Amino acid sequence: MSEASYPELRHDHALDGLNTLGLSARAAHFMRLSREAELAPALALAAQRGWPVSLLGGGSNLILAPHLDGLVLQPGFADCELTPGADGSVGVRVAAGHDWHALVMAMAARGLWGLENLALIPGQCGAAPIQNIGAYGVELAEVLEAVELRYLDDGRAETLGVGECAFGYRDSLFKGELAGRVMITHLRLRLSTRPRPRLDYGDLGRRVEGEPSPLAVAEAVCAIRREKLPDPLALPNAGSFFKNPVVPGPLAEALIKDHPTMPHFAQPEGKVKLAAGWLIDQCGLKGWREGPFGVHERQALVLVHHGGGDARGLLAFAERVAERVRSRFGVVLEREPRLMGRFD
Ligand code: EPU
Repeated sequence: MSEASYPELRHDHALDGLNTLGLSARAAHFMRLSREAELAPALALAAQRGWPVSLLGGGSNLILAPHLDGLVLQPGFADCELTPGADGSVGVRVAAGHDWHALVMAMAARGLWGLENLALIPGQCGAAPIQNIGAYGVELAEVLEAVELRYLDDGRAETLGVGECAFGYRDSLFKGELAGRVMITHLRLRLSTRPRPRLDYGDLGRRVEGEPSPLAVAEAVCAIRREKLPDPLALPNAGSFFKNPVVPGPLAEALIKDHPTMPHFAQPEGKVKLAAGWLIDQCGLKGWREGPFGVHERQALVLVHHGGGDARGLLAFAERVAERVRSRFGVVLEREPRLMGRFD
């Protein structure tokens, strides 16, 4: 097939506006898929030309190298279908290209419970399972039934039940064994018309009154996030830059002894999760800026890009932040956003 059959195909395409860190990046070839059926011909073209294929969702959890080889595909299909189930449950099948926050608000406005704590998380639905998005005490895996995907090598379709996705804290099979091998095409979620507010995280419970609706909870979550987290459109960032570290019990005990107010959360097998934002904050780094990059002034876990920097500069800046935490607390911070493109 000639390239004329692919009206959406772009060459040497700028991705600057397609990543929330606002990093300058170019894809050798780029195509936004407006229908799932466009994937198979796109894969055939890439195979014919010898282009490696990679995927971009909302670009909100990615660090893009300046150059991306091969064909970058972005799912643009955004269908959403609701099916009433037993006991007040409602099945939702939503496509990869649907905006996540728009889905959360639409479901909350219909009075459906399950997604409201995950309001205002940037990005597309298809990316949500990759890092098992989570906020205010809820993780995606708790409302997910299955993930529909297609393999990039031969386009075959598969549906994985939630138990097959190896979900963990900010982790899944899609970051491990299936990384770079599949396109998530649809999520199947299970929501409920029956009230099940989850208000135990931080001061969320104090922000809502009486018996709240899912919309009231979602709006309270939005208000908290707007107070703490910078809007990527105003100040480019990728949300939390580091995972909250899970450390061995004895290290946590020693740190708590020295810092009795340190936030800490018990985990399985005697381990303890610490707050990376608190650790960075304690190093006096909140608001620290070096050239184009900085630590956000209200939430130290978020690194921000003031403009004019590149991925390499960002990684070096992040390394300096992590090194300060390591030398002060003996805790190693792990990066949360994924790298995409050539970093040699
Ligand atoms: N803290 C500080 N200083 C800071 C930041 C945090 O002292 O600069 C303290 C807070 O006072 C609190 C504790 O650290 O006691 C935890 O802070 P917070 O509740 O803000 O949450 P977090 O652990 O920093 C995680 C997620 C966020 C999510 C929030 C709310 C990770 C890596 N991050 O942040 O997710 O919105 O909880 O559930 O797990 C994201 O992944 O991009 C993201 C924003």
